[in-house]
Amino acid sequence: MHFFGYKGKSFYAEGVPVSRIVKECGTPVYIYSSKTLKRHYKAYGAAFSKVAHLICYSIKANSNIAVLKTFAGQGSGFDIVSGGELFRALKAGADTKKIVFSGVGKREDEIEYALKKGILMFNVESSEELASVNRIAGRLRKKAGIAIRVNPDVDPKTHPYISTGLKNSKFGIETKAAIKEYINAKNNLKNVNPMGVDCHIGSQITKIEPFIDALAKTKELLRTLRSEGIEIKYLDMGGGLGITYDTEAPPHPSRYGEAVIEGTKGLGVTLIFEPGRSIVGNAGILATKVLYTKKGSEKNFIIVDAAMNDLARPSLYGSYHAIKAVRENSGGEITADVVGPICESGDFLAKDRILPDVRSGDYLAVMSAGAYGFSMSSNYNTRPRAAEVMVAGKEFHVIRKRESLSDLIRGERPVSTKKRRRK
Ligand code: LLP
Repeated sequence: MHFFGYKGKSFYAEGVPVSRIVKECGTPVYIYSSKTLKRHYKAYGAAFSKVAHLICYSIKANSNIAVLKTFAGQGSGFDIVSGGELFRALKAGADTKKIVFSGVGKREDEIEYALKKGILMFNVESSEELASVNRIAGRLRKKAGIAIRVNPDVDPKTHPYISTGLKNSKFGIETKAAIKEYINAKNNLKNVNPMGVDCHIGSQITKIEPFIDALAKTKELLRTLRSEGIEIKYLDMGGGLGITYDTEAPPHPSRYGEAVIEGTKGLGVTLIFEPGRSIVGNAGILATKVLYTKKGSEKNFIIVDAAMNDLARPSLYGSYHAIKAVRENSGGEITADVVGPICESGDFLAKDRILPDVRSGDYLAVMSAGAYGFSMSSNYNTRPRAAEVMVAGKEFHVIRKRESLSDLIRGERPVSTKKRRRK
């Protein structure tokens, strides 16, 4: 449930008309609802309140520090995948003891940064990475908490680009190989502490079964490890719970919670979750202005000022995002493609969509854009990245300024053509 909707003919974010935000801040603009963010975070907390758990919000979904601060304020931990995300988490006041570091390609400087900051654990994804963590921790005279990310070979039945738990995936280590790595860590790697098992099978998962299948396999591994004398304290189940973009009916966190609690009864572990999309996805919209409309013999187009550089998901995965008029009109409807100004045919936000017959100067709200929206945006076609706004009740705050033209070339240096004088 979220706090965007019509009051009369006007579309609101909590108590603020979106028309007011676009007038004051321009477009394209991402708008987040702080009440929705908190509600979704709390839904997870409530789902697992009966068992020892830690929610590590997955920063990659939406990494604005105002968003991170909202979660840090609720006691959230964080799932990071880069030194950059660690930097953001620290800026947001995160408790470093609640940070897990995921990702297949952690660089040496990133491992060092995380060790110096004292994060909870590294979710290790290869034998070579494990050796690196051990070596770097030794050099820093630290002991690194580690979990191995296992690849349970479970099909999450989602888009192939966001499936990660199959055998042919670059992620994780196959279970048999993982057992060897744990034993090696215990016997030979003095600077790591194998304290967790980690498993993340994919994203936008709309059924419970793939999670439960993966859980069954990780439980088996956990028991094997314990029989080898390896004390596993944490079971990290990753993220991946889906949301409703269109007609999907994913399980509520409470139902996911019941199934996981049932499946982990008596295991004696602290559960870790790394939700991203299910917390922020429906807590954000992208507001955009209609620049032109074009009616053709085959297709109609609504050309807006947001593009694939602002919201890549439709172009990249063919994803559906609902689109609403910021001011409902009583005119008719048309079927149109909603497209951006970028010079690519793949630059669209919606295809063959039935929409109100909007005019140039009207505004549209692209729904469910809070996850993997701004965080995946780019400057392609040298377009400044959008502003971001947080609404709280009847107020709103700009939490990231729209990029300026000079932001676009920051750090670039023309090569000097002057010949150097010989001394
Ligand atoms: N943990 C790990 C290790 C992950 O790789 C991810 C997402 C998450 C947690 C959070 O998953 P979530 O709860 O958000 O599903 N750009 C794609 C999604 C990519 C997901 C990458 N990993 C999209 O726009 O659909």
